[in-house]
Amino acid sequence: MTDFARQTVVITGAGTGIGFAIAKALVQQGANVVLNDYDQPLALDAARRIQQECQSPEAGICEACPGDASDVAFIRQMIDRAVTRFGSLDIAIANAGITIFGDIFTTTPESFQKIVDLNLRGSFFLAQIAAQHMRVQGKGGSVLFMSSVVGHLGHPGLPVYSMTKAGLEMLARQLVIDFSPLGITVNAIAPGATLTERTLDDPTYIPIWSRITPMGRPATVDDITHAALFLVSPASRHVTGQSLIVDGGWTSVGVPPV
Ligand SMILES: NC(=O)c1ccc[n+]([C@@H]2O[C@H](COP(=O)([O-])OP(=O)(O)OC[C@H]3O[C@@H](n4cnc5c(N)ncnc54)[C@H](O)[C@@H]3O)[C@@H](O)[C@H]2O)c1
Repeated sequence: MTDFARQTVVITGAGTGIGFAIAKALVQQGANVVLNDYDQPLALDAARRIQQECQSPEAGICEACPGDASDVAFIRQMIDRAVTRFGSLDIAIANAGITIFGDIFTTTPESFQKIVDLNLRGSFFLAQIAAQHMRVQGKGGSVLFMSSVVGHLGHPGLPVYSMTKAGLEMLARQLVIDFSPLGITVNAIAPGATLTERTLDDPTYIPIWSRITPMGRPATVDDITHAALFLVSPASRHVTGQSLIVDGGWTSVGVPPV
């Protein structure tokens, strides 16, 4: 694991789940983290909990910044605030993403727009605004998108969500053109089924995913966090435009005919 001392991080949708775990690990390793979530009480509580649980002298600061990560004006304010508060921006993690289940026939223009606005528009402009600051700072940086295995394989009921996740992976490759001359890496993580507070409540989740995942269990938030920290650390400074699938082998095999 790498030391993130004095690095400034902005991460969206981090009040719970994967984002929370990444934010906490970064604070533990010395980063100053601006933790965003749409749910204001959740964001404030998450930042407070992280600060309370990370009390070593090496730990960084965690500050909540509640707001809508699909709103470009808000994203700009959040990043400006991070730079003013901590002096720079080094890492931007577009973690917030939503799923609304429905097939092609039941998808409404409203649900389509909502998913695209957060998953694609919010991630795109977080990357743009973060990189504008990194360009001025002149010391590089890292951008990380949160994709999904369904950006690689079709999944029932997720036509819009899977389209946005595949789009994020292409965006990472595309941004290599503009970001590489600035020393900014841009990558994606594609988690498979991951146990979070949201999925822990479903009694069928662990048995089903344990049966169909080659490694015999769904991912934990720590599995995803370890991959995320690698992709925003100096250890991966020559890795860019990539998507790292963290799924216990699920996308590597087809469904057997039984
Ligand atoms: N959990 C999984 O199994 C899994 C698998 C593959 C990919 N992912 C992706 O990983 C990311 C995190 O997933 P998760 O399951 O940990 O998160 P989650 O669905 O539990 O949501 C995390 C947080 O995002 C916040 N949020 C929702 N809309 C927001 C908005 N407009 N602005 C700011 N915050 C908002 C919610 O309030 C919530 O606290 C998402 O992009 C998701 O698509 C998750």
